[in-house]
Amino acid sequence: MDKPRVVLGVSGGIAAYKACELLRRFTESGHDVRVVPTASALHFVGAATWSALSGNPVATEVWADVHEVPHVRIGQRADLVVVAPATADMLAKAAHGLADDLLTNTLLTARCPVVFAPAMHTEMWEHPATQENVATLRRRGAVVVEPAVGRLTGVDTGKGRLPDPAEIFEVCRRVLARGVTGPDLDGRHVVVSAGGTREPLDPVRFLGNRSSGKQGYALARTAAARGARVTLVSANPGLPDPAGVDVVRVGTAVQLREAVLKAAADADAVVMAAAVADFRPAAYAAGKIKKKDGHEPDPIVLVRNPDILAEISADRARPGQVIVGFAAETDDVLANGRAKLARKGCDLLVVNEVGERKTFGSEENEALVLGADGSETPVPHGPKEALADTVWDLVVRRLG
Ligand code: CTP
Repeated sequence: MDKPRVVLGVSGGIAAYKACELLRRFTESGHDVRVVPTASALHFVGAATWSALSGNPVATEVWADVHEVPHVRIGQRADLVVVAPATADMLAKAAHGLADDLLTNTLLTARCPVVFAPAMHTEMWEHPATQENVATLRRRGAVVVEPAVGRLTGVDTGKGRLPDPAEIFEVCRRVLARGVTGPDLDGRHVVVSAGGTREPLDPVRFLGNRSSGKQGYALARTAAARGARVTLVSANPGLPDPAGVDVVRVGTAVQLREAVLKAAADADAVVMAAAVADFRPAAYAAGKIKKKDGHEPDPIVLVRNPDILAEISADRARPGQVIVGFAAETDDVLANGRAKLARKGCDLLVVNEVGERKTFGSEENEALVLGADGSETPVPHGPKEALADTVWDLVVRRLG
């Protein structure tokens, strides 16, 4: 099979050096990459670097190898164009169809999916001109990854950092895998809860569970790749933030409930992938619980936590909001799953059979997705992202 052809556009921002790492990820995973830097990008990273790392020629203008008509061919042949970093100037040019160098020509001739990973100072990102350009590009079907928040060039911090190259790579991989179906969650706000809650007993101990958060993170990442605005309510997983996702960190079930309810107010879909503790200790000891010689430990009294999934399903924040729950079952998966779906009142329930190699901590998963309409969608053993994409397919169908 031919290698997928990727055009990596690099525009002139300090984050250009991070595109080297993105390029390496593409080439090492069997992609044929043609790097098209702008002239300003070469102030940050030279053509020799791009050429050596990609194994392909590098040009910034349309005047090199004119007999090959590169200003048209490179875009026409691409399976994916990703611009990282995309400066404010590049977004403006792309939105307005300017074509004054090789990269902007390529953007006009490409008919494949296009991903922009912007990086700039917060003021430039927030400027109405940039925001309108981003909206224009998204409306036309491009995936524009939200910049990360953090340290910017110089002493400034704020929104505008290029997301981690590994995360941009994941977005691209998902967009490539789905072909030119387009960002079918564009304009949608989705909320995903992930990880496992921790219910404190004293300042050093908690009751927790084994959820790694990987399935929830895969859901957030795939939704972002499909164009959604994503709020990820994350309970303790210690995973890197997915690109283009707003991450809200929580600890306990009560905190998770608060964050989910807040984010769900204007959400089109809510997916409860978090393993929420059903119970919490009735009392929290302000000082560390000590052992006492000659005494048995005091029993831990538990109280019920609110059932967030049941609550948001019963009292939908918006008409037509699609709500998805998860369930881990050890036996009688179908009957238990159906009963749980009815009890929780959600639209879809992803039922995992808990066992070796499955579910907790693993990179892979296998599940049965039950619909309140009686549908059953089996998802064969595979990456957690494949399950995530099936969930979003089913959500998109229900959003209409
Ligand atoms: N969930 C929730 N709030 C809780 C507990 C669970 O929102 N307090 C959500 C989880 O995020 C998940 C689904 O409900 O989407 C699965 O819940 P589970 O704990 O399996 O269901 P239970 O009703 O507790 O069933 P069981 O009888 O198996 O404990």
